[in-house]
Amino acid sequence: MARGELVKKLLASYGHEEEFRAVVEQIISEEEKKNNRVLASSLRKTLDNIGTAARSATGLSRLVPFPDEANDFIQRMVPAHGPQDILLSPENTELFLGLIREFRQADRIRRHGFPVRSKLLFCGPPGTGKTLCAEVFANELGLPFFHVRLDSLISSYLGETATNIRKTFEFARRQPCVLFFDEFDAIARSREEAGEHSELRRVVNSLLIFIEQIQPGGFLIAATNLDGHLDPAVWRRFDEIVWFDAPDAAMVRKYLVHAFRNVRASFDPAGYADQLLGYSYADLERVCVQAMKVSVLGGNKAVSDKDFREAMRDARRRLTRKQKLEAQTGE
Ligand SMILES: Nc1ncnc2c1ncn2[C@@H]1O[C@H](COP(=O)(O)OP(=O)(O)OP(=O)(O)O)[C@@H](O)[C@H]1O
Ligand SMILES: [Mg+2]
Repeated sequence: MARGELVKKLLASYGHEEEFRAVVEQIISEEEKKNNRVLASSLRKTLDNIGTAARSATGLSRLVPFPDEANDFIQRMVPAHGPQDILLSPENTELFLGLIREFRQADRIRRHGFPVRSKLLFCGPPGTGKTLCAEVFANELGLPFFHVRLDSLISSYLGETATNIRKTFEFARRQPCVLFFDEFDAIARSREEAGEHSELRRVVNSLLIFIEQIQPGGFLIAATNLDGHLDPAVWRRFDEIVWFDAPDAAMVRKYLVHAFRNVRASFDPAGYADQLLGYSYADLERVCVQAMKVSVLGGNKAVSDKDFREAMRDARRRLTRKQKLEAQTGE
């Protein structure tokens, strides 16, 4: 195509991000064909940056009106955390970098007829960073972050039609965002509990069908504490299953160093890594914050070994109680 035609197309795409990107991609591939590699790569860089800058400048792209009916179970969250706040395993870091890259060049991938991975299932025990990661991911992509509470969604729709669920998904299709379904176990549980309860089964099934059919403008992320127990009907609807593990000794150590990076301590917190094995990141955070609070209350300039041991003792007591309770309830 002649250059002039491409420029005209570019101007005509003003205000339509997808089209605009597609035309720029065409220009880039023309330059590549002409062997103008430096220009092509600089155009590519500029295009990638435009996306990021435009999104992070406003915090979001065009906002589609939010369905009022969904207010009970969807909340818009303003991401407050960034990549510096989360510890990820090397495999997960690589996976997310790949997803971000794919998202930023989605048009290019789609033009070649390939699908873009956009539906993710986060599995792992409590306090391992599933919710935090979804937030950091949305923040990193500059996409609005919507938190869906499945328990309330399911119960609020019993006895009503599935129209509002459809509206929610319609919203996610039109609005590039991260739509985060927390407590996704509610789906698996409900499928079991539904039994003969046809209304519940209908709601859960329609949710699964929507998840299957939707091609979100951003990402649909679901999080669950279950993994092996998850229904295969649920698994296969996701493009990626991401595992969040409780921290091993090396990660505990890393977490302790990270937590005390800006805090003065008169001991080496990492030295306690072995004693804190078996704790989740959320537990570790509680221990560190508690030790810091004790230190502040004591009017100390640095967190002491004694403050930390005291906080660890509290956490151990809590953990023992929790384990006892779980043993009683047979969880
Ligand atoms: N991988 C991590 N790196 C750093 N901090 C973490 C990590 N995971 C959890 N935390 C800390 O623990 C808190 C709770 O984590 P989060 O809510 O993300 O866990 P979750 O996996 O979603 O748990 P649940 O299954 O109970 O919903 C976070 O706000 C953060 O302070
Ligand atoms: Mg969570």
